[in-house]
Amino acid sequence: MAPRRSSFHLCCVFCALLSGVLWLLLAQGWVNVPASAQDKPAVVEKPAVEKSKEEPEESDPPKDTKRYQYRRDHDLNGTGKFYMGREIAQVMSFHGAPWLERPEREEEERLSALVKLLKLKPGMVVADVGAGSGVITILMAREIGDDGKVMAIDIQKEMLQLLGEKLSRVGVKNVELVLGTEKSPKLEPASIDLAIMVDVYHEFRFPFEMMEELSKTLKPGGRVAFVEYRREDPDVPIKLVHKMSEAQVKKEITQPEFGLKWKETITDLPRQHIVVFERPVKTDKE
Ligand SMILES: C[S@@+](CC[C@H](N)C(=O)[O-])C[C@H]1O[C@@H](n2cnc3c(N)ncnc32)[C@H](O)[C@@H]1O
Repeated sequence: MAPRRSSFHLCCVFCALLSGVLWLLLAQGWVNVPASAQDKPAVVEKPAVEKSKEEPEESDPPKDTKRYQYRRDHDLNGTGKFYMGREIAQVMSFHGAPWLERPEREEEERLSALVKLLKLKPGMVVADVGAGSGVITILMAREIGDDGKVMAIDIQKEMLQLLGEKLSRVGVKNVELVLGTEKSPKLEPASIDLAIMVDVYHEFRFPFEMMEELSKTLKPGGRVAFVEYRREDPDVPIKLVHKMSEAQVKKEITQPEFGLKWKETITDLPRQHIVVFERPVKTDKE
């Protein structure tokens, strides 16, 4: 009996040691617990884009500006930078491109239905701001035909490179790639019929500056559409900082500086809403 009892004791000591080591690794963050398949990889990836000059370093005391506030105590998937009561999410790295290209995305987000809901017409000029690897860019380019054009804007050149290679592979020619900055989409004023941001706006580091610039690029009567995961719906399986409520989008976009008017909110998609604003056509009397 004695040898059996001692091997039992040895086994217990070994298990206790093993769980201690595992606990230490997890607590120190040396081992990542895999995110669920439906989670956006942005929440586990480090953003590829450089830290903005305005953002304080870890060791600096938080530096608030009039428009943006910085808090140490914040969502782990956010940046610690706040705008109009909302925490700005981390920019999704180009390493996350396979998640954008996942085959089940069509079923989960019904992208082809989304493109139909935008009421695109042949010959339109569309800006896909935050185009990423271009899944929606290509759908829209086909919808507007050879007389139309999609301006595909992103701040990560690696994303634009992936998109460029895909365009050559599939033979789509009516897309222009534009390397934007964190504060500007780098488009011509009054040149765009529709600007669209699919799962993008909530990660803008400078949402005010971006919108100030983007609103000027719309033609009179032009529209801007925000496609965001519905924060109001707890069943949408996306981390909180990557979701936006309709009320929050409206609050941020109807600021007088942008001169935009809410037009409609489309709720036909399974996980996202499409909140659409318009640059009004000025009458002669104005
Ligand atoms: C989650 S991905 C979405 C990509 C694409 N819209 C899609 O749904 O397949 C967000 C993209 O927005 C880009 N982005 C973030 N901030 C941006 C900015 N200020 N201007 C342009 N693109 C930006 C990121 O680089 C990233 O490629």
